[in-house]
Amino acid sequence: MRLEGRTCLVTGAAGGIGTALTHRFLDEGARVIATDLDPEALREHYAARASDDRLHLAGLDITKAEQIAALVAELEGSGRAPDVLINNAAAIRIGALLDAKPEDLDLVYGVNMRGTMLVTRAVLPGMIARGGGTVLNMASLAGVHAMYERFAYGASKAAIVMMTRSIAVDYVARGIRANCICAARVATPFVRSYLEEYYPGEVEERFDALSRYQPTGRMIQADEVAQMAVYLCSAESAMVNGQSFVMDGGVTAGDRAPAAQI
Ligand SMILES: NC(=O)c1ccc[n+]([C@@H]2O[C@H](COP(=O)([O-])OP(=O)(O)OC[C@H]3O[C@@H](n4cnc5c(N)ncnc54)[C@H](O)[C@@H]3O)[C@@H](O)[C@H]2O)c1
Repeated sequence: MRLEGRTCLVTGAAGGIGTALTHRFLDEGARVIATDLDPEALREHYAARASDDRLHLAGLDITKAEQIAALVAELEGSGRAPDVLINNAAAIRIGALLDAKPEDLDLVYGVNMRGTMLVTRAVLPGMIARGGGTVLNMASLAGVHAMYERFAYGASKAAIVMMTRSIAVDYVARGIRANCICAARVATPFVRSYLEEYYPGEVEERFDALSRYQPTGRMIQADEVAQMAVYLCSAESAMVNGQSFVMDGGVTAGDRAPAAQI
C-alpha cells in the first residue's frame, strides 16, 4: 500500500479523472475526501464504496471561499485534515482567440486558476502546521503545448503550471511539495460533453480524431493518470518538486512519421 496513512482531498471527484484518482488512492490505502460541485453525482459514483470508512464525500464548489473554509474546518476538527491535496476540478472552453468570448476567460480563470488558488490557500496552513504535505495540480498538455482551439483553457492551464512551481519554490522549506500532471486527451465524460456541446452531430468522428492525436493511436485512460498521481503523492517521489509531468503518448516528443511511411 503506497499511500497508507495519507489523507487526500480531491476536487472534481465526480468527474472521469477524479473518480479514477479516488478509487486508486483508496486501493493504495489512503483516506480520501472526495469533493465535487455535484454531490448527487458523487453519491452515485461511489455507491459501491458507501461502507468504506476511508471515503468521505462532500459537496464543494471551489469558487466559493466560504464553502472551502467550512469544509477545511470540519476536516481539521474531525481528525481528517488532508496531507495531500489534488486540485483536479476544472472548466473547459473551446475556441481560438477570435472565437473566445471574454466570459470564457473569466470562467476558466475563475474555476481553474482562482478556484485552485482558493482551495490550496485554505489547505496549506494546516499542512504546514502539521509538518508538511503534497499538492498535485491537474494541469494539461494544453498548459505547456499550444493545442488547437484551446485559447482560454490553455492559458488557464499554463497558469496552473506556474502556480505549481511558485508553490514548490515558496513552501519547500516548510515541508510542502507541489507538482502537476499535463495529460493529452484522456477518455472521460469531459471529452464527450464538450464534443456534444461544440460539435453536435460529429461526436464520433471528432472522438476518433482526438484518439489519433496521440501517436500511440488512443486516448489516455483515466486510471493511467491516477497511477502517475499515486507516485507523485507518495514517499517514492519525495525528491520530486515543482515539476510538470507530460503524459501524451509522444505528442511533444518530436516529428510524426508522414502517413505514407507508416
Ligand atoms: N479529459 C481530458 O482529456 C483531460 C486532459 C488533460 C487534463 N485534464 C484535466 O483533468 C481534470 C479532470 O478532468 P476530467 O476529464 O475528469 O473532467 P470532468 O468534467 O469529467 O470532471 C471535472 C469535474 O469537476 C467538477 N467541477 C467543475 N467545476 C467545479 C467547481 N467550480 N467546483 C468543484 N467542482 C467542479 C465537475 O462537476 C466534474 O465532476 C481537469 O483539471 C482537466 O482540465 C483533462
